[in-house]
Amino acid sequence: MAWNRKHLLDIESLDADELNTVLDTARAFKAVGTRAIKKVPALRGKTVINLFVEPSTRTRISFELAEQRLSADVINFTAEASSLKKGETLKDTARNLEALNADFIVIRHSASGAPHFLSRFLNASVVNAGDGAHEHPTQALLDAFTIREKKGRIAGLNVTILGDILYSRVARSNIWALTKLGANVTLCGPSTLVPKVFEKMGCRVTYSVEEAIKDADIINLLRIQHERQRQTMFPSLNEYTSLFGLTRARMDRTKPDALIMHPGPINRGVEIDSEIADCKRSVILEQVTNGLAVRMAVLFLINGGKPQEVAA
Ligand code: CP
Repeated sequence: MAWNRKHLLDIESLDADELNTVLDTARAFKAVGTRAIKKVPALRGKTVINLFVEPSTRTRISFELAEQRLSADVINFTAEASSLKKGETLKDTARNLEALNADFIVIRHSASGAPHFLSRFLNASVVNAGDGAHEHPTQALLDAFTIREKKGRIAGLNVTILGDILYSRVARSNIWALTKLGANVTLCGPSTLVPKVFEKMGCRVTYSVEEAIKDADIINLLRIQHERQRQTMFPSLNEYTSLFGLTRARMDRTKPDALIMHPGPINRGVEIDSEIADCKRSVILEQVTNGLAVRMAVLFLINGGKPQEVAA
Protein backbone atom coordinates (compact mmCIF):
# COMPACT_ATOMS: atom_id res chain seq x y z
CA MET A 1 0.00 0.00 0.00
CA ALA A 2 1.28 3.51 -0.88
CA TRP A 3 1.59 6.09 1.86
CA ASN A 4 0.36 9.35 0.40
CA ARG A 5 1.50 11.75 3.10
CA LYS A 6 3.88 14.62 2.62
CA HIS A 7 4.36 15.15 6.36
CA LEU A 8 4.12 13.20 9.60
CA LEU A 9 2.56 15.71 11.98
CA ASP A 10 0.52 13.50 14.30
CA ILE A 11 -1.07 10.10 14.81
CA GLU A 12 -4.58 11.51 15.22
CA SER A 13 -5.03 11.99 11.48
CA LEU A 14 -3.69 8.55 10.46
CA ASP A 15 -5.93 5.52 10.00
CA ALA A 16 -5.17 1.91 10.97
CA ASP A 17 -4.04 0.98 7.42
CA GLU A 18 -1.50 3.81 7.41
CA LEU A 19 -0.25 2.83 10.85
CA ASN A 20 0.13 -0.79 9.79
CA THR A 21 1.98 0.26 6.64
CA VAL A 22 4.57 2.07 8.77
CA LEU A 23 4.87 -0.94 11.10
CA ASP A 24 5.28 -3.38 8.20
CA THR A 25 7.85 -1.13 6.52
CA ALA A 26 9.73 -0.78 9.80
CA ARG A 27 9.86 -4.56 10.12
CA ALA A 28 11.54 -4.71 6.71
CA PHE A 29 14.02 -2.01 7.74
CA LYS A 30 14.78 -3.84 10.96
CA ALA A 31 15.81 -6.83 8.82
CA VAL A 32 18.02 -4.53 6.73
CA GLY A 33 19.74 -3.56 9.99
CA THR A 34 20.94 -7.13 10.46
CA ARG A 35 22.81 -7.18 7.13
CA ALA A 36 26.55 -6.57 6.82
CA ILE A 37 25.78 -3.44 4.75
CA LYS A 38 23.06 -1.57 6.60
CA LYS A 39 22.79 1.41 4.28
CA VAL A 40 20.22 1.77 1.47
CA PRO A 41 20.16 4.50 -1.19
CA ALA A 42 16.50 5.56 -0.68
CA LEU A 43 17.25 9.18 0.31
CA ARG A 44 20.43 9.67 -1.71
CA GLY A 45 20.64 13.33 -2.82
CA LYS A 46 18.04 14.44 -0.24
CA THR A 47 18.87 16.85 2.57
CA VAL A 48 17.38 16.36 6.03
CA ILE A 49 17.71 19.00 8.72
CA ASN A 50 17.12 17.98 12.32
CA LEU A 51 15.68 21.11 13.92
CA PHE A 52 15.70 20.25 17.61
CA VAL A 53 14.77 23.26 19.72
CA GLU A 54 14.24 21.14 22.86
CA PRO A 55 16.60 18.57 24.41
CA SER A 56 16.59 14.97 23.15
CA THR A 57 18.83 11.93 23.27
CA ARG A 58 16.92 8.97 21.77
CA THR A 59 14.81 10.75 19.14
CA ARG A 60 17.54 13.03 17.79
CA ILE A 61 20.20 10.36 17.55
CA SER A 62 17.93 7.71 16.06
CA PHE A 63 16.57 10.15 13.47
CA GLU A 64 20.15 11.07 12.56
CA LEU A 65 21.17 7.44 12.27
CA ALA A 66 18.02 6.61 10.26
CA GLU A 67 18.79 9.43 7.83
CA GLN A 68 22.38 8.25 7.44
CA ARG A 69 21.25 4.65 6.87
CA LEU A 70 18.96 5.98 4.10
CA SER A 71 21.97 7.81 2.54
CA ALA A 72 20.57 11.33 3.07
CA ASP A 73 22.73 14.40 3.61
CA VAL A 74 22.14 15.24 7.28
CA ILE A 75 22.44 18.58 9.07
CA ASN A 76 21.91 18.89 12.81
CA PHE A 77 20.64 22.28 13.89
CA THR A 78 21.82 23.24 17.38
CA ALA A 79 19.35 25.70 18.87
CA GLU A 80 21.74 27.00 21.52
CA ALA A 81 24.30 27.97 18.87
CA SER A 82 21.78 29.34 16.37
CA SER A 83 20.37 32.75 15.49
CA LEU A 84 17.21 31.85 17.43
CA LYS A 85 19.32 33.19 20.32
CA LYS A 86 19.51 36.54 18.48
CA GLY A 87 15.74 36.82 18.14
CA GLU A 88 15.18 35.14 14.77
CA THR A 89 11.71 33.59 14.62
CA LEU A 90 11.02 29.90 14.07
CA LYS A 91 9.34 30.78 10.77
CA ASP A 92 12.34 32.73 9.48
CA THR A 93 14.70 30.03 10.71
CA ALA A 94 12.74 27.33 8.86
CA ARG A 95 12.49 29.39 5.68
CA ASN A 96 16.26 29.93 5.73
CA LEU A 97 16.81 26.19 6.14
CA GLU A 98 14.55 25.59 3.18
CA ALA A 99 16.49 28.18 1.18
CA LEU A 100 19.44 25.83 1.68
CA ASN A 101 17.38 23.18 -0.12
CA ALA A 102 16.22 21.12 2.84
CA ASP A 103 13.90 18.36 1.63
CA PHE A 104 12.89 17.26 5.13
CA ILE A 105 12.75 19.16 8.40
CA VAL A 106 12.50 16.99 11.50
CA ILE A 107 11.38 19.27 14.30
CA ARG A 108 11.18 18.98 18.07
CA HIS A 109 9.78 22.02 19.80
CA SER A 110 8.31 22.89 23.19
CA ALA A 111 5.33 24.58 21.51
CA SER A 112 2.39 22.33 20.62
CA GLY A 113 1.56 22.80 16.95
CA ALA A 114 5.03 23.95 15.83
CA PRO A 115 5.31 21.18 13.15
CA HIS A 116 1.79 21.95 11.82
CA PHE A 117 2.75 25.62 11.68
CA LEU A 118 5.86 24.90 9.57
CA SER A 119 3.92 22.57 7.27
CA ARG A 120 1.62 25.44 6.29
CA PHE A 121 4.33 27.44 4.51
CA LEU A 122 7.24 25.08 3.77
CA ASN A 123 7.63 23.00 0.63
CA ALA A 124 9.87 20.61 2.59
CA SER A 125 8.33 17.61 4.32
CA VAL A 126 7.90 18.18 8.05
CA VAL A 127 8.27 15.36 10.56
CA ASN A 128 7.13 15.88 14.14
CA ALA A 129 9.76 14.66 16.62
CA GLY A 130 7.68 15.82 19.60
CA ASP A 131 5.72 19.08 19.99
CA GLY A 132 5.00 20.33 23.50
CA ALA A 133 2.37 18.21 25.22
CA HIS A 134 0.62 17.53 21.91
CA GLU A 135 2.07 14.51 20.05
CA HIS A 136 5.20 12.41 19.57
CA PRO A 137 4.15 10.30 16.57
CA THR A 138 7.33 8.31 15.98
CA GLN A 139 7.45 7.35 19.68
CA ALA A 140 3.93 5.91 19.42
CA LEU A 141 4.87 4.08 16.22
CA LEU A 142 7.97 2.54 17.81
CA ASP A 143 5.93 1.61 20.89
CA ALA A 144 3.28 -0.06 18.71
CA PHE A 145 6.01 -1.80 16.71
CA THR A 146 7.59 -3.13 19.92
CA ILE A 147 4.25 -4.38 21.25
CA ARG A 148 3.42 -6.12 17.96
CA GLU A 149 6.87 -7.66 17.74
CA LYS A 150 6.85 -8.96 21.31
CA LYS A 151 3.19 -10.04 21.55
CA GLY A 152 2.43 -10.87 17.90
CA ARG A 153 -0.58 -8.54 17.82
CA ILE A 154 -1.98 -5.32 19.22
CA ALA A 155 -5.75 -5.80 18.85
CA GLY A 156 -7.35 -7.06 22.05
CA LEU A 157 -4.33 -6.40 24.29
CA ASN A 158 -4.75 -4.50 27.54
CA VAL A 159 -2.31 -1.59 27.58
CA THR A 160 -1.96 0.54 30.72
CA ILE A 161 -0.29 3.93 30.49
CA LEU A 162 0.71 4.96 34.00
CA GLY A 163 1.99 8.38 35.05
CA ASP A 164 1.75 11.98 33.95
CA ILE A 165 -0.76 11.74 31.11
CA LEU A 166 -1.87 15.36 31.05
CA TYR A 167 1.49 16.80 30.01
CA SER A 168 2.61 13.83 27.91
CA ARG A 169 2.79 13.94 24.11
CA VAL A 170 3.81 10.27 24.26
CA ALA A 171 0.53 9.41 25.99
CA ARG A 172 -1.60 11.25 23.43
CA SER A 173 0.13 9.67 20.44
CA ASN A 174 0.03 6.22 22.07
CA ILE A 175 -3.68 6.55 22.85
CA TRP A 176 -4.45 7.47 19.23
CA ALA A 177 -2.28 4.71 17.79
CA LEU A 178 -3.27 1.89 20.14
CA THR A 179 -7.01 2.54 20.09
CA LYS A 180 -6.97 2.73 16.25
CA LEU A 181 -5.13 -0.61 16.24
CA GLY A 182 -7.70 -2.23 18.54
CA ALA A 183 -5.99 -2.28 21.97
CA ASN A 184 -7.87 -1.64 25.22
CA VAL A 185 -6.11 1.38 26.72
CA THR A 186 -6.28 2.22 30.43
CA LEU A 187 -4.84 5.44 31.87
CA CYS A 188 -3.78 5.76 35.50
CA GLY A 189 -2.05 8.37 37.65
CA PRO A 190 -2.91 11.18 40.07
CA SER A 191 -6.32 12.67 39.23
CA THR A 192 -4.66 16.05 38.64
CA LEU A 193 -2.58 14.45 35.87
CA VAL A 194 -5.22 12.13 34.39
CA PRO A 195 -8.42 14.10 33.85
CA LYS A 196 -11.53 12.08 33.01
CA VAL A 197 -11.82 13.97 29.73
CA PHE A 198 -9.27 11.51 28.28
CA GLU A 199 -12.09 8.94 28.21
CA LYS A 200 -13.36 10.82 25.15
CA MET A 201 -10.30 9.46 23.30
CA GLY A 202 -11.67 5.94 23.73
CA CYS A 203 -9.76 4.79 26.81
CA ARG A 204 -10.55 3.94 30.42
CA VAL A 205 -9.39 6.15 33.30
CA THR A 206 -8.76 4.75 36.78
CA TYR A 207 -6.99 6.18 39.81
CA SER A 208 -6.33 2.74 41.32
CA VAL A 209 -2.91 1.52 40.28
CA GLU A 210 -3.77 -2.00 41.44
CA GLU A 211 -6.76 -2.10 39.11
CA ALA A 212 -4.76 -0.56 36.25
CA ILE A 213 -1.96 -3.12 36.32
CA LYS A 214 -3.63 -6.40 37.30
CA ASP A 215 -4.90 -7.39 33.83
CA ALA A 216 -2.40 -5.40 31.76
CA ASP A 217 -0.44 -7.10 28.98
CA ILE A 218 1.67 -3.96 28.63
CA ILE A 219 2.49 -1.35 31.29
CA ASN A 220 3.88 1.80 29.73
CA LEU A 221 5.32 4.13 32.38
CA LEU A 222 5.68 7.87 31.92
CA ARG A 223 7.89 10.22 33.85
CA ILE A 224 6.60 13.38 35.50
CA GLN A 225 7.08 16.17 32.94
CA HIS A 226 8.28 18.85 35.34
CA GLU A 227 9.33 21.05 32.43
CA ARG A 228 5.72 21.47 31.31
CA GLN A 229 3.96 21.75 34.68
CA ARG A 230 3.26 25.30 35.76
CA GLN A 231 1.94 24.30 39.19
CA THR A 232 2.43 21.53 41.71
CA MET A 233 0.22 18.62 40.61
CA PHE A 234 0.84 16.33 43.62
CA PRO A 235 2.35 16.75 47.12
CA SER A 236 5.82 15.22 46.58
CA LEU A 237 7.81 12.80 44.44
CA ASN A 238 7.95 10.42 47.42
CA GLU A 239 4.18 10.38 47.60
CA TYR A 240 3.95 9.87 43.83
CA THR A 241 6.29 6.88 44.07
CA SER A 242 4.41 5.36 46.96
CA LEU A 243 1.02 5.73 45.23
CA PHE A 244 1.87 5.14 41.58
CA GLY A 245 5.49 3.96 41.19
CA LEU A 246 6.09 0.51 39.69
CA THR A 247 7.73 -1.19 42.66
CA ARG A 248 8.71 -4.85 43.05
CA ALA A 249 5.61 -5.43 45.21
CA ARG A 250 3.34 -4.05 42.49
CA MET A 251 5.21 -5.90 39.78
CA ASP A 252 4.47 -9.16 41.62
CA ARG A 253 0.75 -8.45 41.18
CA THR A 254 0.95 -8.13 37.37
CA LYS A 255 0.40 -10.89 34.79
CA PRO A 256 3.58 -13.02 34.55
CA ASP A 257 4.06 -12.07 30.90
CA ALA A 258 3.20 -8.38 31.21
CA LEU A 259 5.84 -6.23 29.51
CA ILE A 260 7.26 -3.02 30.96
CA MET A 261 7.76 -0.09 28.60
CA HIS A 262 8.98 3.46 29.06
CA PRO A 263 9.76 6.05 26.37
CA GLY A 264 12.70 7.40 28.39
CA PRO A 265 14.34 9.24 29.92
CA ILE A 266 13.55 7.15 33.00
CA ASN A 267 13.70 8.52 36.52
CA ARG A 268 14.89 5.51 38.51
CA GLY A 269 13.25 5.26 41.91
CA VAL A 270 10.41 7.63 40.97
CA GLU A 271 8.01 6.13 38.40
CA ILE A 272 9.96 2.86 38.19
CA ASP A 273 12.16 0.91 40.61
CA SER A 274 15.68 0.57 39.26
CA GLU A 275 15.55 -3.25 39.31
CA ILE A 276 12.26 -3.24 37.33
CA ALA A 277 13.78 -0.99 34.66
CA ASP A 278 16.50 -3.58 34.13
CA CYS A 279 14.46 -6.76 34.58
CA LYS A 280 13.78 -9.39 31.88
CA ARG A 281 10.26 -8.13 31.25
CA SER A 282 11.49 -4.58 30.55
CA VAL A 283 11.68 -3.79 26.82
CA ILE A 284 12.83 -0.21 27.33
CA LEU A 285 16.06 -0.57 25.36
CA GLU A 286 14.36 -2.63 22.64
CA GLN A 287 12.02 0.34 22.16
CA VAL A 288 15.09 2.49 21.48
CA THR A 289 16.47 -0.06 19.00
CA ASN A 290 13.11 -0.20 17.21
CA GLY A 291 13.04 3.58 16.94
CA LEU A 292 15.72 3.41 14.27
CA ALA A 293 13.73 1.10 11.97
CA VAL A 294 10.52 3.06 12.55
CA ARG A 295 12.16 6.38 11.72
CA MET A 296 13.73 4.89 8.60
CA ALA A 297 10.27 3.68 7.57
CA VAL A 298 8.65 7.07 8.14
CA LEU A 299 11.24 8.98 6.09
CA PHE A 300 11.20 6.31 3.36
CA LEU A 301 7.40 6.36 3.02
CA ILE A 302 7.18 10.17 3.02
CA ASN A 303 9.77 10.15 0.25
CA GLY A 304 7.39 8.03 -1.84
CA GLY A 305 8.95 4.64 -1.13
CA LYS A 306 6.78 1.54 -1.37
CA PRO A 307 6.96 -1.01 1.46
CA GLN A 308 7.68 -3.86 -0.97
CA GLU A 309 10.74 -1.96 -2.29
CA VAL A 310 12.62 -2.08 1.02
CA ALA A 311 14.23 -5.46 0.45
CA ALA A 312 15.53 -4.45 -3.01
N1 CP B 1 11.53 9.25 24.20
C1 CP B 1 12.09 10.41 23.86
O1 CP B 1 11.49 11.23 23.14
O2 CP B 1 13.35 10.59 24.35
P1 CP B 1 14.27 11.83 24.03
O3 CP B 1 13.64 13.04 24.66
O4 CP B 1 15.61 11.52 24.60
O5 CP B 1 14.31 12.00 22.53
